[in-house]
Amino acid sequence: MRFTILTLFPEFFQGPLTCAQMARAREAGILEVDLVNPRDFSTSRHSHVDDRPYGGGPGMVMSADPLARALASVEGPDCKPGRKPGRKIVLAPSGRPLTQALARELAQEEALTLVCGRYEGIDERLIEAEGLEPIGVGEAVLNGGEAAALCLVEAVARLLPGFMGKEESGEDESFSAGLLEYPHYTRPDVYAGREVPETLRGGSHAAIARWRRQASLRRTLERRPELLREAPLDGSDLNFLRGLPRPPALGRSLFLCLLHHPVLDKAGKTATVSLTNLDIHDMCRVSRTYELGGVLFVTPLDDQRELGQRLLDHWTEGAGGRANPDRAQALRLGRMAASLDEAVGWVTGETGLAPRIVATCARTGYRPARGRKERMIAFSPPGLVRGWLEREPVLLVLGTGHGLAPEVLSRADAVLTPVRGFAAYNHLPVRAAAAILADRLLGDAG
Ligand SMILES: C[S@@+](CC[C@H](N)C(=O)[O-])C[C@H]1O[C@@H](n2cnc3c(N)ncnc32)[C@H](O)[C@@H]1O
Repeated sequence: MRFTILTLFPEFFQGPLTCAQMARAREAGILEVDLVNPRDFSTSRHSHVDDRPYGGGPGMVMSADPLARALASVEGPDCKPGRKPGRKIVLAPSGRPLTQALARELAQEEALTLVCGRYEGIDERLIEAEGLEPIGVGEAVLNGGEAAALCLVEAVARLLPGFMGKEESGEDESFSAGLLEYPHYTRPDVYAGREVPETLRGGSHAAIARWRRQASLRRTLERRPELLREAPLDGSDLNFLRGLPRPPALGRSLFLCLLHHPVLDKAGKTATVSLTNLDIHDMCRVSRTYELGGVLFVTPLDDQRELGQRLLDHWTEGAGGRANPDRAQALRLGRMAASLDEAVGWVTGETGLAPRIVATCARTGYRPARGRKERMIAFSPPGLVRGWLEREPVLLVLGTGHGLAPEVLSRADAVLTPVRGFAAYNHLPVRAAAAILADRLLGDAG
């Protein structure tokens, strides 16, 4: 495979390309690397390759022309015989993330051309006109594209036939099956008081394979839980994951609170909305599924609270609960309360700490008080609430009707970023929102 790297610092590659497997692979003809310096294609008197940015601001921008001429030398009529540019890539922090799957895809190519940026980056028109594919390595900004290009070259090169000693050694690695790799051990049996796991010392291939799969799953859950969303998992993987403690008491510190007052009606006036059986069942079931501390249904109306309590009693202690014990487990998490203050007091009594109040909102602006100018709501990301959950209880307040009244939003410690649907239709049922938000706060993607 041929890599052509456009770089203002060809010397950067001297060490990495001339040692260990990279050197051997180049000697064996498995890969070739050509370095092209855009400065050699500058037509300015002082070989300039950059200029000041339009719109002002610090730093310089790499000019299009020298890069275009350098690219033409790789693919144009004057290019060296046998030199093919292949897919043309620009290294950029804003690019498609370099993953094992992308490395595997690129390893199928005969040639790749990599353009390394420097300074503030490259004139965007060059990237568009040349059809360069932006690829980034990690969510951190480097001085230039050279280190990123090296990452890409190594990740791709080691997948080429003959690069690695044993053809199969890339198969079990991190990300290959959508999971992180299991830990490795070598002699001695005991190091720093730690023993090599018993199973790995035994001879059963099946037991070792199972141990490794489970270690992979556990490590992925601990370090990169979001990968589990896409990883191909079978039933035994899911059973194993279900049995693992997942994040210790985080869920139990989260309480849902469904307010039926004060909420807004269609006309934007403060109103009281009726309880629904559906909300009670489904929010309790969400709470049980994510192992939450409980769910409070708040209404100031005595008869509505009595109705709610009758429903809860029927499905826990009554005939409903006897007929459907699974439902009873969920509904046991439900409580009726007369006000948000009473809900806060109940959580404080249960946990010994006053909860943070986190409001939810489907709208993106609100009027805090009559006659005052409309203000945009400042939303907080789930990460902030997750941080609170590690130390203190959180009462996640959801509204019925047309959403929580401004006084509830103003009182909250944070308003969670709304669930962003794709249509202008903004009527997600509150129990669906509760499930999505519980998953954002506690699920694998968080
Ligand atoms: C200092 S960076 C410019 C960063 C740019 N202003 C931004 O914020 O996206 C200079 C060059 O380094 C390369 N670079 C920096 N970080 C990178 C990363 N994480 N992945 C790929 N390339 C990167 C790019 O080629 C970039 O044009």
